[in-house]
Amino acid sequence: MDKLHITGGKPLCGELRISGAKNAALPILAGALLSEAPVTIGNVPHLHDITTTMELLGRMGVQLVVDEKLNIEVDSSSIQNFYAPYELVKTMRASILVLGPLLSRFGRAEVSLPGGCAIGTRPVNLHLQGLAAMGADINVRNGYIHAVAKRLKGCRLVLDQVTVTGTENLMMAAALAEGKTVIENAAREPEVIDLANFLNQLGAQVRGAGTGILEIEGVESLDRPGRHYNILPDRIETGTYLVAAAMTGGRVKLKNARPALLDAVLVKLRAAGAEIRVGENWIELDMHGRRPCSVSIRTAPYPAFPTDMQAQFIAMNAIAEGVGIITETVFENRFMHVQEMQRMGADIKLESNTAIVKGIPWLTAAPVMATDLRASACLVLAGLVAEGKTVIERIYHIDRGYECIEEKLSQLGAEIRRIPH
Ligand code: EPU
Repeated sequence: MDKLHITGGKPLCGELRISGAKNAALPILAGALLSEAPVTIGNVPHLHDITTTMELLGRMGVQLVVDEKLNIEVDSSSIQNFYAPYELVKTMRASILVLGPLLSRFGRAEVSLPGGCAIGTRPVNLHLQGLAAMGADINVRNGYIHAVAKRLKGCRLVLDQVTVTGTENLMMAAALAEGKTVIENAAREPEVIDLANFLNQLGAQVRGAGTGILEIEGVESLDRPGRHYNILPDRIETGTYLVAAAMTGGRVKLKNARPALLDAVLVKLRAAGAEIRVGENWIELDMHGRRPCSVSIRTAPYPAFPTDMQAQFIAMNAIAEGVGIITETVFENRFMHVQEMQRMGADIKLESNTAIVKGIPWLTAAPVMATDLRASACLVLAGLVAEGKTVIERIYHIDRGYECIEEKLSQLGAEIRRIPH
């Protein structure tokens, strides 16, 4: 397994191009299963989770062609099976996103039930309840979800809890259902909007994306040919590099970004002392060499502060001036990075779903282990400001969600190397 070696102490300075959003690309690739005509998807990030999704679609018989600019043409006209095996689902929970489209277009799907996860139990009950309410017959046996339906029927769904992939799965299922589906308490994340825009470009009728109520008028088929869709920029990757610059007292300009999707994060970075300027598709942060001030955050569904940025703000607070209180309300066990940070000298106390982080002037390098994607990002950030050489193991987690992280950080002046195993 590859490792990352990071020697801390360099302020990050320079310019970077932000990649396409992982969490938009995954549902959109799954959504291409709904289309009878080939679709081309651009600005797809080069990530492990994308490769896994392509493998999953490929095994179903979907034809995939990747051109030199990494545009992916997806042709779902010749699918032979409707099966998502455990060996792929266990490496990527987002595989559950094929359930809605398969069931809606082909009337059947067999998808492995995702197992446990490093950040919480993460059930899919709301996905299944929603599909059942639309008329699907769903059985869970031998670790697999077996779902069949003649044609799904539109209905009113009130989600018990805001769920991003749950909203996406049900939106895709409703796209080809008979009649109108209304999803209340829907997730409002920008990636949900991106999926809705993609489906509408194929001929779907989804309204209300970005609000808590989605209205989907089912259509007979999605068959508008020759369409190209560009994935929106990754707001979490953007936020992660902004925090990296803020922690190291640096100055960065991020291009191909969408600052308007990061309001809750920018408020906190400004409170930490960063000077931030934004354009429509770029963002610049200047810390003027200062040490950040601690900030307190509470994670919640969009537009509140994203859980996917919680670990990075723990890293920043660890070396900030003052005490920051971080409350995680989305996932029950998303503090695995805290123990590793403590091994680097961080002063953090955990009390149920809250981390109390007392900033210290510097961290010290240590061998640490990545446990999930955003926890890995936290450790990389910590390594950038630690005294000495930090060695991060199990970095395959980071390759799931950050495109060429060591190249991008090196471009900004960080001393970081991947050590292949
Ligand atoms: N939940 C249920 N039942 C369900 C579905 C969700 O109880 O049927 C609960 C979850 O256990 C959790 C909460 O609802 O406590 C929210 O989970 P959600 O379903 O919104 O999470 P997700 O859709 O599985 C997506 C992202 C995550 C991101 C969360 C929250 C994708 C592929 N994944 O996960 O991204 O943290 O939304 O914003 O979109 C990451 O990129 O590192 C990542 C984990």
